[in-house]
Amino acid sequence: MNRSFKISENVTYVGKIDHELRSFHGDELSTFRGSSYNAYLVRGEKTALIDTVWAPFADEFIDSLKSIIDLKEIDYIIALHGEVDHSGSLPALLKEIPDTPIYCTPAGVASLKGMYHEDWNFVPVKTGDKLDLGGKTLTFIEAKMLHWPDNLMCYLDDEQILFSTDVFGQHISVQELYDDTYDLDKIMYEAKKYFANIVAPYAKIAKAKMEEVLAMNMPLKLICPSHGVIWRGHISDILENYKKWSDNYKENQICIVYDTMWNSTRMMAEAIAYGISKIDTGATVKLLNSSKTDKNDIVTEVFSSKAVLFGSSTANRSILSSMAAVLDLITGIKLTGKKAASFGSFGWGGESVKILTEHAENAGFEIVSEGLKIQWVPDEEALQKCIKFGEDFAKAVLG
Ligand code: FEO
Repeated sequence: MNRSFKISENVTYVGKIDHELRSFHGDELSTFRGSSYNAYLVRGEKTALIDTVWAPFADEFIDSLKSIIDLKEIDYIIALHGEVDHSGSLPALLKEIPDTPIYCTPAGVASLKGMYHEDWNFVPVKTGDKLDLGGKTLTFIEAKMLHWPDNLMCYLDDEQILFSTDVFGQHISVQELYDDTYDLDKIMYEAKKYFANIVAPYAKIAKAKMEEVLAMNMPLKLICPSHGVIWRGHISDILENYKKWSDNYKENQICIVYDTMWNSTRMMAEAIAYGISKIDTGATVKLLNSSKTDKNDIVTEVFSSKAVLFGSSTANRSILSSMAAVLDLITGIKLTGKKAASFGSFGWGGESVKILTEHAENAGFEIVSEGLKIQWVPDEEALQKCIKFGEDFAKAVLG
């Protein structure tokens, strides 16, 4: 059931907490902790509904809304973002209140028309436009490319609430939907995973938008994203983290992402990790088998690393398919300022290292060595080469 609750004097949460969701964007994004589709009812003399929920929950969304308001009393709908997880209940809702104006960006008009093929009563808005609810005012702030061209935020001046669209969101389902009622480390990990997998391709835009929003000097009592917890106890923490994440983010971490056919590349990975740890004693070194680790968690770990090693056996004159998939994902998020090298075992051809290196270079990594390939199962001499390779890589990363 949908559960509405007041988040301030005049704002009620009317979204859907989806405890069962385990993947998103098809199967592109894992959501191991569920998610929520946040929607808000803002009441002044007039009433505005900010966003709806994903279509499978449309009936319960509308039933829940009806339990707290006569739908005819909704004067405005605001679509902060056209994507279906937030707009999916619009068709059902607009059957009940067909002429209600929908405030969104011009790109939002295009996306909603493209998806629902309805000529609803759209009202395009831009940064600085205001919606007067009678005693309360919503101010719109475009959030183009965070993370689609149509994203929009709005600020409720009277109550100091920023409705931040997908920005600052996390795929997490928590019954008490606040940042101070759940393990903050888990919330921040989910916020970082969201940033790494969804926002990072537009990190430069995120950085500029952060600066623009902060320059507005808006007092913030609550930040209400479209997914996950509402920020109230850790607003400065999430703002600070977004600033860091959007600016060539790296922790003192090196990760080794690899896949292996018959364990030889795994043996190499472990020996290389040992070599790295001998030199860079302060760094966290993580080994991630790409066929056994969730791809979005790998992206998050790569995003958090100062350097990455990519490893694969050679098969069919190429690299293993899980590595190809992960490298393709990583290429899409356009990371900068990270060092990399490649390694792999082979029996006959030995093409994998060259292919991995080219892929990593195309993905924006700074390649610090030509890589290491070992034929057949590594013997002690070969493992010593791997340890030395790890040591040299660590030295190159340390500069
Ligand atoms: Fe949460 Fe981009 O939709």
